[in-house]
Amino acid sequence: MNLPDIVGITGAAGFVGANLVERLLDEGCKVIGIDDFSMSGPENLRGILGRPGFELLEYDCRDTARMRKDFAEVGGIMHLAACKIPRFGGALNTMQVNVGGSESAFEVALDLDVPVVFTSTSDVYGNAATPFREDGEIVLGPPTSRRWSYAASKYYDEHLALRMHEENGLQVSILRLFNAYGVRNHPSWWGGPLSVFLEDLLDGKEMEIHGDGQQVRSFTYVSDTVDGFVRALATPEAVGEVINIANEEPVKIIDLAQTVQTAMGIEGDLRAKIVSYESMGGNYQDVKIRVPSTEKAERILGHKAQVKLEEGLEKTIAWHRELRELKVAA
Ligand SMILES: NC(=O)c1ccc[n+]([C@@H]2O[C@H](COP(=O)([O-])OP(=O)(O)OC[C@H]3O[C@@H](n4cnc5c(N)ncnc54)[C@H](O)[C@@H]3O)[C@@H](O)[C@H]2O)c1
Repeated sequence: MNLPDIVGITGAAGFVGANLVERLLDEGCKVIGIDDFSMSGPENLRGILGRPGFELLEYDCRDTARMRKDFAEVGGIMHLAACKIPRFGGALNTMQVNVGGSESAFEVALDLDVPVVFTSTSDVYGNAATPFREDGEIVLGPPTSRRWSYAASKYYDEHLALRMHEENGLQVSILRLFNAYGVRNHPSWWGGPLSVFLEDLLDGKEMEIHGDGQQVRSFTYVSDTVDGFVRALATPEAVGEVINIANEEPVKIIDLAQTVQTAMGIEGDLRAKIVSYESMGGNYQDVKIRVPSTEKAERILGHKAQVKLEEGLEKTIAWHRELRELKVAA
């Protein structure tokens, strides 16, 4: 693949970021990572820190001047630093970080005249008709429901990116990720339902299912997600495009809980309890069905997810167990 010698990554210590750093180093690139460690830490880069060609810097990616200086030699930028769905609060910070961070990353990419891959989300589709196509309608809920702040911030970023592409020549590709999971993910709700189901079961507790469990999602193993980034950066035809990065294996959340329990070797009735949206506050609303069209990713990037849920789950369970052993040993 035709990748730049040096790549700059924001959010490098996070779940997707850390996996991306590893993949790019494996591809022979040098990587300069920025992270403020607000939702991660250098320990998430265990086995990667210290590898030749990797440098990790700690600061807020909204520091445009510093990013401009540190990324002076990069041939491409991957912008991942962001806050995710504010399920339990912190929505104002989500808006500020996601908008301010993208403004910085885009400005730096434009100034350096290098391509930038922007990380958007399937959440921007909201409750649109499925399968979600990149040129389809967006159906977001009202701003009185704080959880939509995430989708609104990323949707604003997408508009900003494309307007800067049209009017200023920004070389930007936009990836809409669908529920990534796997190693180096946050072992809490921040890491999504799969992460928290595993942690609940490892704690000997019931899995917490938000809503009625009938929501449908498409879980994508992180190596497939990261493959989308690498291909986007190496594909000039991806510039100016919005592309779904996903696995087309829809699963109901209640069925996912059962699959996780079975994969953990726990027999008997489903160990799960329902948590109502009302109890979560903030006028919480959910996306009911999130199923992608992956036609564009295949056509432009040659990207097709490879890892089946059962296989990805096995690796993820092993990693959660390893994380616990490390905590005990520390
Ligand atoms: N994980 C998913 O399923 C998923 C789905 C859709 C979109 N995304 C997007 O992918 C990107 C990465 O998500 P993730 O799951 O790895 O999340 P994550 O929280 O693990 O990683 C984000 C990283 O950004 C850092 N960060 C936050 N604010 C920062 C700031 N102001 N300056 C510098 N660093 C900052 C955090 O410390 C964290 O390490 C995000 O943009 C997210 O919106 C993820």
